[in-house]
Amino acid sequence: MAAAPAVRFPVFGIARLLGVVAAAAILVWAIHFRGGMALSSEKDKLLIFNVHPVLMLIGLVVLNGEALLAYKTVPGTKKLKKLVHLSLQFLAMFLSLLGLWAVWKFHDEKGIDHLYTLHSWLGLSCIIFFTLQWASGFWTFWYPGGSRSGRASLLPWHVFFGVFLYVLAIATSISGLLEKSIFMQTAKMIGRFSMEAMLMNSLGMLLVLLGALVILAVVSPGAGKIDTYRGSSE
Ligand code: HEM
Repeated sequence: MAAAPAVRFPVFGIARLLGVVAAAAILVWAIHFRGGMALSSEKDKLLIFNVHPVLMLIGLVVLNGEALLAYKTVPGTKKLKKLVHLSLQFLAMFLSLLGLWAVWKFHDEKGIDHLYTLHSWLGLSCIIFFTLQWASGFWTFWYPGGSRSGRASLLPWHVFFGVFLYVLAIATSISGLLEKSIFMQTAKMIGRFSMEAMLMNSLGMLLVLLGALVILAVVSPGAGKIDTYRGSSE
């Protein structure tokens, strides 16, 4: 197999910057264009919906991406890197469960069916497998910790599923943005070439670029230390 590309530009800094821009863009969308967020509201149920994209995108894309890179970006001992990795992933999981609760509650309160779209199927799979991945990683690599051979055999699968679920989270977010934009255009809430529609399209493009950079940083031997992914299951 061909070697992974060696990176000669500041891939971690650029990936982090794009993550911050993506988080800012979804917040601007929810607050400026959609009127804000609320965990409960009698007057405007859409405020409850707005919690969903913000928490999903910040949790499963931005924080998840930072967590994937923690072994290469966090200075210090392997134990500290691992702690940062599992804590960021825990936060991502917690935010995604809260975001799921918000959209579920919105559907219940508006009398909308659950799980009728491709986006919702992708999303539910993503959350279920992300939770399983976190739990199996915690159990095997942190507490109580598996045997040396158990850790060594899980590690490549843990890395593979980690990258796979990150890609799935990006695909799911893009499908959510597309779906919401089309819903709003069909309901004549926004125009096809409105600022809001263009922001949503641009955010989708940004997520593709962010995903490419994070994966490049993960696989590239030139970018930071690779030993944690390749040679060690400690
Ligand atoms: C990884 C990120 C995401 C995950 C895991 C996810 C997951 C889900 C799930 C499971 C549902 C179904 C809720 C139900 O049936 O009651 C849902 C609904 C929805 N989500 Fe997301 N979502 C994500 C990101 C987004 C984003 C960024 C948007 C952008 C606006 C979005 C827009 C929607 C919309 C409009 C619905 C309601 C219609 C439907 O059920 O498809 N989602 N999402």
